[in-house]
Amino acid sequence: MILYFSATGNSLAVARLLAERLNEQLMLLTEAVQQDWTAEKRIGLVFPTYDFNLPPALPDMISRLKISPQSYVFTVVTCGSAAGNCIWTLRRLLREKGIELAYSHKVSMPDNSALAFGRNPNKQLGKFDRVPARMELISRELQAESHTLHYSWFGLLSWFLGRPAVTRGMIHFLGPKVIADKCTGCGTCVRVCPMKNIRLADNKALTGDHCTVCLACVHACAQQAISTNGQQARKDRQYRHPQIKLKDLLLR
Ligand SMILES: Cc1cc2nc3c(=O)[nH]c(=O)nc-3n(C[C@H](O)[C@H](O)[C@H](O)COP(=O)(O)O)c2cc1C
Repeated sequence: MILYFSATGNSLAVARLLAERLNEQLMLLTEAVQQDWTAEKRIGLVFPTYDFNLPPALPDMISRLKISPQSYVFTVVTCGSAAGNCIWTLRRLLREKGIELAYSHKVSMPDNSALAFGRNPNKQLGKFDRVPARMELISRELQAESHTLHYSWFGLLSWFLGRPAVTRGMIHFLGPKVIADKCTGCGTCVRVCPMKNIRLADNKALTGDHCTVCLACVHACAQQAISTNGQQARKDRQYRHPQIKLKDLLLR
């Protein structure tokens, strides 16, 4: 079973490919926490890097996830370029549950947070050139149930960026804000938010208090009516993995 978290499709594309190669099923992590996976022989966790670490909502999901210490547990993390401490944090969280992380690797893809900093993720599509070879290696190693942690970390920088106060700052600055007079109340953001943190009130989107700053809503809004880091999204900077359709990211 492959459990994934994805805002703009990078992690979903990786999870899909792995599910296909390993003949496994796929499920969104936010739904998977409600079920019991202790009978699964192999569990894969695929998610993006935020702030050189796990997305803020992930530790709680991992702690609630019902998986067995007998399972082969692996992770493949997507990132813009540096997964920082993701793998070490995940390994620690799993160890707290008596589970050993058997395998890890990362895949670099366009950085979907770039638009919050005035850059364009769609100008980073060249990163896809290296993905097939990386996915080939990962698939081969996972098929052989390899016990290898491929990791990278940036030492002090990762430690600093992963501090709770820095994460709170990231949520504060990058947290999406609805531009009410641009919002048409179409509800796409409500359905694309993997955290179910957006609802409509008086035909306008309203964000709640458990945003994990994935920016799914910012990238998916056809009216560019959601800002991040004080910047209204520009249409040409809104990103989605080229093989993933909007409907693939919508919650049912
Ligand atoms: C809030 C935020 C913080 C991010 N921090 C990092 C980071 O520290 N290092 C990195 O390489 N990429 C970072 N990224 C980029 C994402 O990890 C990357 O684009 C990922 O593949 C997105 O996956 P998704 O399309 O499945 O949501 C960040 C993205 C967001 C939204």
